[in-house]
Amino acid sequence: MENIVLETDRRNRNGRTVMENISILAIESSCDETAAAVVRDGRTVLSNVISSQIDLHTLYGGVVPEIASRKHMEQINQVVEQALEKAGTSLADITAIAVTYGPGLVGALLVGVAHAKALAFASHKPLVGVHHIEGHICANYIDNPELEPPFGCLVVSGGHTHLVNVIDYGKYEILGRTRDDAAGEAFDKVARAVGLGYPGGPKIDKIAKEGNPDAIEFPRAKIDGARYDFSFSGLKSAVLNYINGCEMKKIKINQADVAASFQKAVVDVLVDHAMQAVDEFGFKKFAIAGGVASNSALRAAMIKASAEKGIAFNYPSPILCTDNAAMIGAAGYYDYIAGIRSGWDLNAVPNLKLGER
Ligand code: KG4
Ligand code: ZN
Repeated sequence: MENIVLETDRRNRNGRTVMENISILAIESSCDETAAAVVRDGRTVLSNVISSQIDLHTLYGGVVPEIASRKHMEQINQVVEQALEKAGTSLADITAIAVTYGPGLVGALLVGVAHAKALAFASHKPLVGVHHIEGHICANYIDNPELEPPFGCLVVSGGHTHLVNVIDYGKYEILGRTRDDAAGEAFDKVARAVGLGYPGGPKIDKIAKEGNPDAIEFPRAKIDGARYDFSFSGLKSAVLNYINGCEMKKIKINQADVAASFQKAVVDVLVDHAMQAVDEFGFKKFAIAGGVASNSALRAAMIKASAEKGIAFNYPSPILCTDNAAMIGAAGYYDYIAGIRSGWDLNAVPNLKLGER
């Protein structure tokens, strides 16, 4: 006899509706990772398969959109199959299919969206379009089972730097954002200038451990009238000017000192903005998300600052900070139980805003 498990509704100890026995197959292809995952009830990861194209893009010093789309097309079938296989499940037992539909590279997003639509249509499953940044934020639910909104969240990745008030599941208020470069982009550009290669974040993080963060005084930008906005292009220029100045004077730069001083300037600004928001909005909990959230100096500084304020601090494990589909499965679950469904006309939206549908 077939074993049928029905979805069940109940409330958790905070009085929120939760649904059990929901398995989401999630797909992510917004940038240079082709990823698929199976996530149960928003917080339990049954599989998380990531096929990274980093080695390919390293040859060009950054992500080449056309190459990214082509590689996604080559990989997507097997990545999805592996995710189902590793989870020990099949499409028939999946409740819904979630997919990132923005923001990101349009050609890259389209591969995931088209694949998810085809799978959902063929298997008669609901389709749920997920916002990439919402996915990054929801990565925190996986590693921190007790975490529930409201909380403040700093989303720092290669493409985004947002300070967000997470009011409730699926309900966000953007308090501040970058005016120019994203934090991860600044890491990548500075790493290239220092001669560390792509992707720069993890390399700067590593070499900075051997450097003096107070060796060089780099600027910390403040924006008049927008206390939660960020700007990293001035800092990046200051580092480039410093390097050029040293070259002209025929002085060999100390890579570790430049990396540590640059990193400290970024971390100081991020933590300062986060703590100002804690004071103003009275957050009792704060989280970080996105690729840069795995930076060791940022984590250490946030742990210290949060302890001083007496608030809880949450962060995902490094594999859930950079792009992955498990985070899309977590976000997809909360969208699904809120009744959100996408139509067959779901399209890639390269500059989709958080909170927009
Ligand atoms: O979230 P993610 O995978 O992609 C986007 O959605 O943009 O973030 C990638 C970014 C890259 O810029 C990378 O250099 C940065 O995250 N990153 C780091 C670290 N690990 C990754 N930046 C600083 N320190 C790290 N340990
Ligand atoms: Zn991302």
